Amino acid sequence: MEKKEQLYEGKAKKVYATEDPELVIVSYKDDATAFDGTKKGTIRGKGAVNNRMSNFLMGKLAEAGIPTHVVKELNDRETVVKKVRIVPLEVIIRNVSAGSFAKRYGVEEGIPFDEPTFEFSYKNDDLHDPLLNTSHALALKLATREEIDTIRGMALKVNEVLKEFFAGCGVRLIDFKLEFGRLSDGTIVLADEISPDTCRFWDAKTGEKLDKDRFRRDLGSVEEAYQEMMRRVFGGQA
Ligand code: TMP
Ligand code: ASP
Repeated sequence: MEKKEQLYEGKAKKVYATEDPELVIVSYKDDATAFDGTKKGTIRGKGAVNNRMSNFLMGKLAEAGIPTHVVKELNDRETVVKKVRIVPLEVIIRNVSAGSFAKRYGVEEGIPFDEPTFEFSYKNDDLHDPLLNTSHALALKLATREEIDTIRGMALKVNEVLKEFFAGCGVRLIDFKLEFGRLSDGTIVLADEISPDTCRFWDAKTGEKLDKDRFRRDLGSVEEAYQEMMRRVFGGQA
């Protein structure tokens, strides 16, 4: 399968057409942004880490019965995926207080929740991805009630599978962001990526941050954290 014209360039990935109208190729970049694209940088090797880790995790999720967009990894940075129309919702699941949750509700980071939280925000950098509830999403026609129910069920299942998988790697899954897409027939599938860019990973023993917060918060050792997560996930196979 070969790349044809570039269809889109996002902050972390490029998307190319293929000869098949139902398939596209995503190419992961080393570019990193934060705070709606206002902070910019490069994380060397990030594209390859995110591509390989996301494909591996989505493979695990597919085995657990969650439909995903992944079709075939082509090389370190590029993957064939099903072409979707992205549902413009950033779906966030949290197991432990951190980030915007801690800030918004005035609590410290690191408080475990009895049950995971589910929230979504409107995927729109110009508006700073505002938090939405279901009735807002319906009013804005971002998704149907049925789609939102499907997305909520799938996101909570993803959390169960990933929490257990990462526990086996000595990593606490604090929170993460998912995006979903619609196939040409309207079926909802898990899309975008699952990587240190889109999750918070804390070392289970030391609490050390092993994700993009190292870049967002200028903590240093950013590349090293991505490589460490690669070793944790792939073990001897990386
Ligand atoms: P938050 O605490 O800043 O709302 O982030 C929650 C989770 O979502 C965290 O794992 C990082 C991820 N995330 C993204 O993937 N993209 C984003 O634009 C933001 C703000 C967060
Ligand atoms: N990637 C997001 C942005 O640039 C933010 C983040 O992940 O913190 O807006």
